Amino acid sequence: MTDNTVLEAKAKEIIGRYEKPKAAMLPLLWLLQEHFGYISPEGEAWVSRHLGVAITRVREVVSFYSMYRTRPASRHNIQVCTSLPCLLKGGKETLNKIKERLGAVDGVSIEEVECLCACEMAPMAQLDEQFTGPLNDQTTALLAGRAGSPQDGPFQDLDPAPHVAADGPILSLRFKNKEGTWFDEYAGQGGYSAAKKALATMKPSEVIDEVSRSNLRGLGGAGFPTGKKWSFIPKDSPKPKYLVANADEGEPGTFKDRYILERDPHALLEGMIIAAYAIQSHKAYLYIRGEYYRPAKRFNRALKEAYAHGWLGKNIQGSGFSLEVVVHRGAGAYICGEETALLSSLEGGKGLPRIKPPFPAISGLFGCPTIINNVETLACVPFIMREGAKRFSDLGSVKHGGTRLFSISGHVARPGLYEAPVTVRLTDLIHKYALGPAQGRKIKAVIPGGISTKILTAQEMGTAMDYDCLASVGIMGGSGGIIVFDETACMLAALESATRFFAHESCGQCPSCRTGTSWIHRIVKRIAAGKGRLRDLDNLLAIARDMEGKNICVFVDAAATPVQSYISKFRPEFEEHIKNGRCASKLCPMTTPTLPRVCRTGLPAGLPSPIEGEGKSEGSNAQIAQIV
Ligand code: FES
Repeated sequence: MTDNTVLEAKAKEIIGRYEKPKAAMLPLLWLLQEHFGYISPEGEAWVSRHLGVAITRVREVVSFYSMYRTRPASRHNIQVCTSLPCLLKGGKETLNKIKERLGAVDGVSIEEVECLCACEMAPMAQLDEQFTGPLNDQTTALLAGRAGSPQDGPFQDLDPAPHVAADGPILSLRFKNKEGTWFDEYAGQGGYSAAKKALATMKPSEVIDEVSRSNLRGLGGAGFPTGKKWSFIPKDSPKPKYLVANADEGEPGTFKDRYILERDPHALLEGMIIAAYAIQSHKAYLYIRGEYYRPAKRFNRALKEAYAHGWLGKNIQGSGFSLEVVVHRGAGAYICGEETALLSSLEGGKGLPRIKPPFPAISGLFGCPTIINNVETLACVPFIMREGAKRFSDLGSVKHGGTRLFSISGHVARPGLYEAPVTVRLTDLIHKYALGPAQGRKIKAVIPGGISTKILTAQEMGTAMDYDCLASVGIMGGSGGIIVFDETACMLAALESATRFFAHESCGQCPSCRTGTSWIHRIVKRIAAGKGRLRDLDNLLAIARDMEGKNICVFVDAAATPVQSYISKFRPEFEEHIKNGRCASKLCPMTTPTLPRVCRTGLPAGLPSPIEGEGKSEGSNAQIAQIV
């Protein structure tokens, strides 16, 4: 077959997965980029013809997502993360070292990127498709291509063994399997018995009731009761119903869904089958973050196994219930973690949030009733069906049942992923699970649920981590991403990092978000450049206040939170920066030399590809600058 015939055949197969051709936009663009290395104007015209949409529509989608390239790529691409958890562990210094080492070499691009959701490896980078970290002098040298094979080089993840809560692990039971848990082992341990029970012995409404009694809450950040959400699906609607698993993990400080996708994908699949049965959906999608190469491969393998063993497809296990699952890959836009933006993206457009109501349960994907659940939420469902709602509920608080996964990063001795009952205290997670700050240092501050949540001082760490306790002290539950700052941290550096992230990730749809996040970052950068004025602090608070609550989605509220909480809790430190032009922290942007943000570099000719049997370089979700 010619190249063209192969492409045409693949395009036809991809378009056939979707209810509407336009929904195949992102996968068709991926197909072109993987085939040619980038998307040319001819490629855009090809997509336009196949989907029956105007070429301008294709162009706007290509330009919206940061992972699509419109020019040929370098032979290798190194993306160095400098988002907050990596910043705290020396991400900027690492970036500078990599630039110095590879600055004169041709063939490799280096990018400074936002969080790749591997913060337990901080400081970390992605070489082509592979995460690597933590990057010290030795591993940085290896990363630069000077030694080692992919097997024993820096291209293995840190993969910290997650601590397992003593009173019964739900989610991390099989995380010890670094290479993934596959069908035989999963089924051998009782896997799919929960789906069998639901499909063979329960009505859909009984499944919803059981999940409601378990007090399972949405673990992506919002904390909405899951059973209640499922019950909103109209039973008498003649339209098809959809289930979407949201695997667009992107909140800096959070890396929990990655472990489920990589190490226990069948638990997620079984949860999806039960959820789809409960809402009577026969088509489910997994929307996965574009940078999650390995998680996507592992999930796809589990998907094939599930089809092969009759757990997906028509008439599952003779139950009369049928379900198809399609994996849909994002292309680099944090905003697509917001459920309506995700739907826009899944329908083949830019990831733009929509006004609610109508809520997706009434009018979601293709205008049909749709439930969107986070990966971790769905992975809890098999336990609930197998062990009973009471057992799950008893592990948590009155209104928030079970355990959850806490991603802990920053200044702790043992960063990693920890499963604990939702009632665990923040201080215990930091000191008992992650072993507290290194070298006997004191804790200065903690972010309890990803950078969208308020920062806490060391004196505020006694709170329990269930959604209601956090809400009672004015904190959004968030994604369970805990970022710890010890006394060496610089709050100006932290605020610069957080505001840069939000300015970069605003979708630009609402004017106050587009301009507000941008102005906030400019002012913080000006302070960091030593040109700040004391009144800037009040200006920042005023802009943040003006942005809040005036937009289509909650992104802007998340963007306002760091500004308000960092300045209100650490104002003297910001004033000191403005007055004295520096602070004692070696992380302080006023004292850290900054090399140019982007350079064009390359590995020595003839060096083998560092990635085993695969690998094109790609752009990043939060790409700060594109190599030319
Ligand atoms: Fe660097 Fe998350 S991977 S901050």
